[in-house]
Amino acid sequence: MKKAFNIVLVGGGSTWTPGLLKALCKMKTRLPLNKLVMFDVNAERQAVIGEYAKVLFREEYPEVELIWTTDKEVALRDMDFIFCQMRTGGYAMREKDEKIPLSLGVIGQETCGPGGFAYGMRSIRDMIELVNDVRARSPQAWILNYTNPAAIVADALKKSFPDDERIINICDQPVNLLRSYGRLLGRDPEIFDPVYFGLNHFGWFTHLYDENGHDLAPELKAIIASNGFKPVDAEQRDQSWLDTYAAVADMLHDFPDYLPNTYLQYYLYPEYKLSKLDPNFTRANEVINGREKRVFDECRTAAAEGTTKNVHVVHNDAHGDMIVELAESIAFNLKKKFIVMVENNGLVANLDNDVMVEVAAEMGANGPRPFGVGKIPTFYKGMIEQQFAYERLTVEAYLEGSYTKALMALTLNRTIVDAKKARRVLDALIEANRDYWPELK
Ligand code: G6P
Ligand code: MN
Repeated sequence: MKKAFNIVLVGGGSTWTPGLLKALCKMKTRLPLNKLVMFDVNAERQAVIGEYAKVLFREEYPEVELIWTTDKEVALRDMDFIFCQMRTGGYAMREKDEKIPLSLGVIGQETCGPGGFAYGMRSIRDMIELVNDVRARSPQAWILNYTNPAAIVADALKKSFPDDERIINICDQPVNLLRSYGRLLGRDPEIFDPVYFGLNHFGWFTHLYDENGHDLAPELKAIIASNGFKPVDAEQRDQSWLDTYAAVADMLHDFPDYLPNTYLQYYLYPEYKLSKLDPNFTRANEVINGREKRVFDECRTAAAEGTTKNVHVVHNDAHGDMIVELAESIAFNLKKKFIVMVENNGLVANLDNDVMVEVAAEMGANGPRPFGVGKIPTFYKGMIEQQFAYERLTVEAYLEGSYTKALMALTLNRTIVDAKKARRVLDALIEANRDYWPELK
């Protein structure tokens, strides 16, 4: 018989949790569960998702011990895997991350630009605390982390826990892109063997091999140039996400070498994006009125009806599936390929060793075995080095409580550039984040 695992979902009250729960049910024979804990600091949100989980697991997975809690002692002890997706400050703070920069004439986005900076300064504190809390209770557990802004979190955790080899930072956007390529090419994305390099939300696919080693990237680029680009689940997406995917065609038109991550649009076209963003109604509002409302309504409905059979919209497949598949690959040493964040150490030959790059890696019982890509061309190297300097300075600003480093970070960010603008944005963000950030001196 296969081993059964203890897993905790940190951020159990997230809008992404139902999809994750569904993925765990779907993959019960591949990654059997013994105990599943949902853990959140917000008891109210957690209870709504917990009641949904109770109904879902009664229907699909009754043999699992399922609990939810706000007590870390209960949540983090004797775990095999920690699936982590926390959002310090919730959507209320995301709204500020997006609106404050916009009110000062720069891009507000949850992970890019000053919005991501503000969120990063909040996430670092809670992620460091979480890792310490986990290690005190589950020294061998794998921490599979989705928490954003993942690039900054990954660097902060590497700096704070340099010898901890069981923290894996990962993002679902590369998989979302692979699935979208699959739709466009009429191919099963499972067969894709991608070559990818960059930083989180700041990377490129250089090749997309099929099962015979044939590179599909040229054909894919030609299709995108003539037909545009859509997410695999276009029918379920809000307009802002459709616009985001469409921007891939513009980026390929300007820079045809590689297939860009969608998030690069903010760094390549900051003026254009700024002109398109509404300072009074940002993505946070779209999520609060859309996904969040739908997910919580549907969870309440399932709990009231005592069945999940009328619940449909709470499952984003890629996000939930990927993390469960990653755990499976580690648990059973399957060595499947995932795109993850790891320390460079020569993977990109002409970048510094200590850059936290995002590349493809085989994931097995001993962690990631990443694939190098050799030297990258000057344009990409320049982009990455500037962006990584911003990320590293953000981490140092946090760890050292340094105002000057925070100002340097924002000045280096391509969405700002001007130091006087950076100072205005920083001062406003400090004001809004008093309850979360260390004092910057
Ligand atoms: C992608 C990114 C995530 C991001 C998510 C949701 O999957 O990789 O980092 O959090 O999209 O974004 P949204 O704006 O829909 O909350
Ligand atoms: Mn991401």
